[in-house]
Amino acid sequence: PAPGWSVTADVVVVGSGVAGLTAALRCAAAGRRAVVVTKARLDDGSTRWAQGGIAAALGDGDTPEQHLGDTLVAGAGLCDEAAVRALVTEGPDAVHRLIGAGARFDTAPGSEEIALTREGGHHRSRIAHAGGDATGAEISRALVAAVRTAGLRTIENALVLDLLTDAYGRTAGVTLHVMGEGQHDGVGAVHAPAVVLATGGMGQVFSATTNPAVSTGDGVALALRSGAEVSDLEFVQFHPTVLYLGPEAEGQQPLISEAVRGEGAYLVDAAGTRFMVGQHELAELAPRDIVAKAITRRAQEQGVEHMYLDARHFGAEMWQHRFPTILAACRSHGIDPVTEPIPVAPAAHYASGGVRTDLRGRTTVPGLYACGEVACTGVHGANRLASNSLLEGLVFAERIAADIAAGGAADGAPEPVPPAVEERRPPRALPLLAPETRAAVQRIMTTGAGVLRSARSLARAAAELDVLHCEATEAARAPGAAGGADVPPTSTKAPEPGVEAWEATNLLCVARVLVAAAQRREETRGCHWREDHPERDDASWRRHFRITLGADRA
Ligand code: SIN
Repeated sequence: PAPGWSVTADVVVVGSGVAGLTAALRCAAAGRRAVVVTKARLDDGSTRWAQGGIAAALGDGDTPEQHLGDTLVAGAGLCDEAAVRALVTEGPDAVHRLIGAGARFDTAPGSEEIALTREGGHHRSRIAHAGGDATGAEISRALVAAVRTAGLRTIENALVLDLLTDAYGRTAGVTLHVMGEGQHDGVGAVHAPAVVLATGGMGQVFSATTNPAVSTGDGVALALRSGAEVSDLEFVQFHPTVLYLGPEAEGQQPLISEAVRGEGAYLVDAAGTRFMVGQHELAELAPRDIVAKAITRRAQEQGVEHMYLDARHFGAEMWQHRFPTILAACRSHGIDPVTEPIPVAPAAHYASGGVRTDLRGRTTVPGLYACGEVACTGVHGANRLASNSLLEGLVFAERIAADIAAGGAADGAPEPVPPAVEERRPPRALPLLAPETRAAVQRIMTTGAGVLRSARSLARAAAELDVLHCEATEAARAPGAAGGADVPPTSTKAPEPGVEAWEATNLLCVARVLVAAAQRREETRGCHWREDHPERDDASWRRHFRITLGADRA
């Protein structure tokens, strides 16, 4: 649809988690007019839900080099070492700048030093946390307050639709669908030569996830429609310990942070036996793909749906002080971790892949940047190390802001004549899906492309997703449908354009690309687990799939 209103800026940041707000604040500090647009409220993304914390080599005896080593091991041979090096060396200062911006981290008893804990895959205590287990909420609070203090322009309830490009194919802004934000209502545009995608993840592509309802892969879908490259989408991280609420549980599920294991909780099976000991030198603190696989395997062996996390020995006081959020969440579901083990099972948690960027956060489309979960900077490889995500959001947002401040968005491109924005339909536009399709996509993905995958399960998922795509394409061609073509009438009705339909469309788009990547990777590596190819195969598969809509290459 044609934009009914428009705003002009130097940079538009799409998304308001740690990555988006850091990028916007840094751009503003460098004198750029930054506008933040976000799908719900400013604090509604995944950042707010982060529990465990933010990893950085801040402790005595720890070094960026050790953090690098742990990150590379978790990434199972697919990390970009230069990107990881940037993350771990710039990380500690970035955390201190976050503190300077107002974030308050927990300190060790009787001291001013930041308290650090451990999580899976870390050989050192290097996870800073806040409010016990409410780290993301504190970071979000501090950054939202900083954005308000800095007077940045924000547009909430704004779902990003597509990238605008100029006559030379360079980024020129975005179109948005805004719902009831005063002067901005309906479809509009923010015109800017730099667009920073910080839209977060795509956990909602599966039935059960730790991600909030807004995590529908909008940024990856936009990037694909714009011709940008995405990479590593097959590497979906399933968090091992998510509160198990029954086989029918759907949508966002309560996370039981790895920090609970970091503080000494252990996993037991249906018979009450600890099963991680002997499987990995770090036992319950092995990288999370290993723990998720072990839980899934043992549950299959015992014919049950979940395992248990036992932390009764913490006692009531420690639970209350250290993990108040998790304690309250468990109790609200009738489970008291002080007196009983917590039923846990893996659920979709984090997209290790995303829109491919270089070390400055640039995507393959000039002027389009990506950071945070939507991006694939190369720091996570085949499996993200716990608590590296908030850090990645911080560090790479700062890098992007530095690049924009240095004039990066205009690099090497000729001046457009005339400098008009072509508000054209993206060349890879997709048919709009009915909102009800969301549940079908989630069911297909959970069954066919979840923790355990095989050629068979993936082929079935691909075929079922294709049917949804074909039905939507037919409906779009029906007489009277927007963009309808002169083809025989069909009984399927095209949905009304709206946020829910666009979200369903985005979910189907990313689901199809994810399944295609998972089909192609005929090995088990990191969080991609193929039952029919159970070994890691470095000779054939130590490489990335770079995918653009309509073409891909390894
Ligand atoms: C957790 O607290 O277990 C989640 C941390 C993360 O995903 O990095």
